[in-house]
Amino acid sequence: MYNRGGNRWQKRLTKFRSIQLPLLITVMALMFVIAILGIDKKKPTSQSAVTNQKRSNLDGSRVQFDPTVEFLNNTEVIWKIPNSPKSVLFLAHGCNGRASNFWDKSPNCNHCVGLPEERLIVLEALARKFAVLTVSSKGKCWSLMKEPLVVKRIIKWWVEKQNLENLPLVALGASSGGYFVSMLATKMKFSSIALMIAEGVYDRIDITNHYPPTIFVHMPKDNARKKMIEVNLEVLRREGVDVAEIECMELPLTSSFLADRVPGLDLKISVELFDLFKEKGFVNKDGYLINDGRVIPWKEAMSKSKIRLPNEPLVNYIQEELNLAFAYHEMTSLKSEQIFDWFEAHLR
Ligand SMILES: *[C@@H]1O[C@H](CO)[C@@H](O)[C@H](O)[C@H]1NC(C)=O
Repeated sequence: MYNRGGNRWQKRLTKFRSIQLPLLITVMALMFVIAILGIDKKKPTSQSAVTNQKRSNLDGSRVQFDPTVEFLNNTEVIWKIPNSPKSVLFLAHGCNGRASNFWDKSPNCNHCVGLPEERLIVLEALARKFAVLTVSSKGKCWSLMKEPLVVKRIIKWWVEKQNLENLPLVALGASSGGYFVSMLATKMKFSSIALMIAEGVYDRIDITNHYPPTIFVHMPKDNARKKMIEVNLEVLRREGVDVAEIECMELPLTSSFLADRVPGLDLKISVELFDLFKEKGFVNKDGYLINDGRVIPWKEAMSKSKIRLPNEPLVNYIQEELNLAFAYHEMTSLKSEQIFDWFEAHLR
């Protein structure tokens, strides 16, 4: 997550004083973890949406992951162009993210990670004929100083090299990537942008009516951020910018939730983990997580149990899905359909 400076935090702290102590402690612990680890992700709506998404998309049967990996002036760029693309999508990860998180491991990209939510966003994009361009930030998080111009140059260079300069350009950034995209949109023309779990850096931007249509995809459980997004929606609207908002609510875990959403995790382990979470009180009686996946000691509980994961990356996949279910701060693919509808409605 990008550090917005002292003022905001102080204001938040003042607000928190009026909230009950246990909630305050939970939220502070989570904010601390997010600030330290730098987290970026997102979240969904209904259980049926989760299942539908899985059926159509989870196994990657609609499109193949065989992206091209390149290094431009030491910046990693991973991309894929579907047949007859109608638009170019630039994707910006969050803090600690990489371009390789968006793509499944393949012969072309042996270091690719394929995080569950990231890969589904890419699959949706490719299925809907968006050329997908992912770039890794130089540091842990995106910088708002020189990096917008560096990335602008990379996008322009790539678009021209691929002969895609006549296609409309859109961008989606999550968390630090959302701040970055909100800034990048003042340096180059996008037909629309999506900011995920990020309020944008509109206190540093001179907004004109040329600013692209902007959709905020956020998790209202993060109430401080929700309030900042409400303000920014109004600020943009007043300048004549087309804006919209999608809220992502928490989801209950079920015995099959992790198997449904984590590639390579079978139902047996999914059931065992769900039972363990119930036993340890990590979920309440309705299956809702009591805290973010980064906060509850589920990994420790798992290693003390007899549950063994078949491979190491699954730990990160599971954690992402727990964060998604808790719906405080995580990348989410569950609103992809609405996000791409929004992009498509504004292509020009
Ligand atoms: C790479 O660096 C050179 C020298 O700074 C610069 O002229 C060029 O535009 C850069 N290329 C891209 C794609 O950013």
